[in-house]
Amino acid sequence: MNSDKKVISIGVIIDGDSRIGKEQEVAMDIAAKSYNNTSKNHKLALYFRNSTEDTLRAIALAEEMINVQKVQVIIGMHTWPEAAIVAEIGSKAQVPIISFAEPIITPPLMKARWPFLK
Ligand SMILES: *[C@@H]1O[C@H](CO)[C@@H](O)[C@H](O)[C@H]1NC(C)=O
Ligand SMILES: *[C@@H]1O[C@H](CO)[C@@H](O)[C@H](O)[C@H]1NC(C)=O
Ligand SMILES: *[C@@H]1O[C@H](CO)[C@@H](O)[C@H](O)[C@H]1NC(C)=O
Repeated sequence: MNSDKKVISIGVIIDGDSRIGKEQEVAMDIAAKSYNNTSKNHKLALYFRNSTEDTLRAIALAEEMINVQKVQVIIGMHTWPEAAIVAEIGSKAQVPIISFAEPIITPPLMKARWPFLK
């Protein structure tokens, strides 16, 4: 078997201004480093971006992560409007979106409209 490890790029959108956002960043970084250390086949590269309430910024952010960093998945999002925008871009690019946006309960219409929004 090829010994080259496949790097999986993950875009993470956090709320860098809040304590919980910073804790999430640290926790994910540690988790990914330890995954890097232990996985035989894959490595995780994380790209952190600050969450934003600015719609245009959110679009630019998602597009940059998909087109430049070539992320295969995007995790995070602080608010539903942001999650919805990012998910819409992700669905066009076939990039799955995993959202922590509040509320935890997925509004039923979301799933139908944005199949990549988990
Ligand atoms: C996010 O914003 C916080 C505070 O404004 C800043 O300290 C941090 O460096 C930013 N993180 C990223 C990934 O841009
Ligand atoms: C990964 O391995 C390096 C070298 O063995 C070690 O210094 C580091 O603490 C490990 N990191 C994690 C998160 O396990
Ligand atoms: C894991 O390893 C990859 C490939 O060496 C590297 O690009 C990535 O930054 C590492 N991830 C972390 C969280 O250090």
